Amino acid sequence: MPARKKIIAANWKMNMTVADTETFLATFRRAVEGVSGVEIVIAPPFTSLPRLSELLGSSQQIRLGAQNFYHEKPGAFTGEVSALMLRELFVRYVIIGHSERRQIFGETDALINKKVLAACATELLPILCVGETLAEREAGKEKDVLRTQLEGALRSVPEEDVLDAVIAYEPVWAIGTGVNATPEQAQDAHAHVRLVLAELYTEAVAKKIRIQYGGSVKPENAASLMSQPDIDGALVGGASLEARSFAQIVRAALRP
Ligand code: PGA
Repeated sequence: MPARKKIIAANWKMNMTVADTETFLATFRRAVEGVSGVEIVIAPPFTSLPRLSELLGSSQQIRLGAQNFYHEKPGAFTGEVSALMLRELFVRYVIIGHSERRQIFGETDALINKKVLAACATELLPILCVGETLAEREAGKEKDVLRTQLEGALRSVPEEDVLDAVIAYEPVWAIGTGVNATPEQAQDAHAHVRLVLAELYTEAVAKKIRIQYGGSVKPENAASLMSQPDIDGALVGGASLEARSFAQIVRAALRP
């Protein structure tokens, strides 16, 4: 079976103006020149998507991602953006279920499931985030939490769609804190995610799905995290805002 291609995604969150985006891309492109064999995704704020889409053109090296969308068809949903609007800009991936959306904006597994289904129906590929809080880990419940989140988010999602999805394991206690999960902790969680996927689908399907780690990924820890057998890439917040540090993380994915 061919190895899973590593996928490194930048989640810029509510950072970067259009001008910042242009400066970033110019530096980043030079820094990853000639890099192949790893998929790179940039998920800027909505306001930067049109410009980034224009600048990337038909780039096969760097793909466009969105941080969110609303699952309904176009209509009276003030403040929201539809899947079709993203497709028009050649957005390929969409982050769904990020812990900030769950915690700050109250997104539930049921809503996340609707978004996953709507994304797949529009040919947007979900980057589905799951992860436990510190309290859940301290109570020894992290595996149950991951199972519940995966079962909820993937309800009725057919095999052919889940194969194109990416799962991001992001322990909430590691996001933006500077405290990353150790490679062993992350590997343990990733192996569990793959086990749950095998139960929900088949082992063959589970083996093909890419699982990224997210939470304080930096140039210094990226290679050791990604050397683990079930870690197929990284979803990067803070360290993706600086072109050179994001490029270093991309290059870390190339190491055996
Ligand atoms: P961080 O964020 O890299 O700043 O910890 C990761 C994320 O929230 O996706």
